[in-house]
Amino acid sequence: MRKTLIILFIIPTLIFTGCQKKNNKPVHPVDRDIPTLSTIDNYTGGAAVTTEAPIEVPTEIPTEAPTETPTEAPTEAPTEAPTEAPTEAPTRAPVKKPVSINRGTTSKGYKIVEKNGVTYVGGILIANKTYALPADYNPGGLLKVTRDAFNKMKVAAAKDGIDLWICSGFRSYYTQKDTYQYYVDSDGRKNADRYSARPGHSEHQTGLAIDLNSVEDSFANTAEAKWIEKHCAEYGFILRYPRKGEAKTGYMYEPWHLRYLGVEQAGKVTKSGLTLEEYLGITSKY
Ligand code: DAL
Ligand code: ZN
Repeated sequence: MRKTLIILFIIPTLIFTGCQKKNNKPVHPVDRDIPTLSTIDNYTGGAAVTTEAPIEVPTEIPTEAPTETPTEAPTEAPTEAPTEAPTEAPTRAPVKKPVSINRGTTSKGYKIVEKNGVTYVGGILIANKTYALPADYNPGGLLKVTRDAFNKMKVAAAKDGIDLWICSGFRSYYTQKDTYQYYVDSDGRKNADRYSARPGHSEHQTGLAIDLNSVEDSFANTAEAKWIEKHCAEYGFILRYPRKGEAKTGYMYEPWHLRYLGVEQAGKVTKSGLTLEEYLGITSKY
């Protein structure tokens, strides 16, 4: 009788819990949550995120709910034997707690906080040579704040006879991987690292960066480039890789590459005359 119970009841149970375990496997670092559309649309690029929520430092990443196995065999034999073990585990993964880690303070006194693998310095999301984004960090395109700010700037520029358009906006980790590899293959890694970010290190993956009009060096001498430099902060953008900034930003001058920070922060950074790295007191080095 006991033998029959084990075969009929306990073995199928073990098979079932085994399937659940496989599907609730511990979270790999690249399996983190991506922002929802509502958080993307509410994100300000860092401007209003200066008051950070209290930093939680979890002792461990939550993995899975404990699986329960019966401690005792049932007292009554089931009337019907189960025909087969369930083949599918529940499809919804347990809700993950955001992982927030305090990474200290910069030389300028800004807090460095890593949330789900993304680094914020003084509340500003940072993607540079020092701070990478997870491969699956993908807001799905340019953030609404970036698009709205660009559209406003485009209208203002048009009134001054300046035509602005986005020639490159959002680039996923994988697009950047191909882009960077293309430059490495055609120009060598050392040169490529001066103007193309390695995958995970590009601001274009944040949805907060745009390249305008032309990525040719000659763009620097155009009326459009001059207008952008003079006015972009009024719309919440900074010229992210300014002239003579390579030692700090890690990249050559890019008169076309803007980063959205919000009007207040962009104004402060631009007024300082510093690169974002110098302003925050961080590095940009592989
Ligand atoms: N050109 C900039 C650095 C990038 O690849 O993101
Ligand atoms: Zn760019």
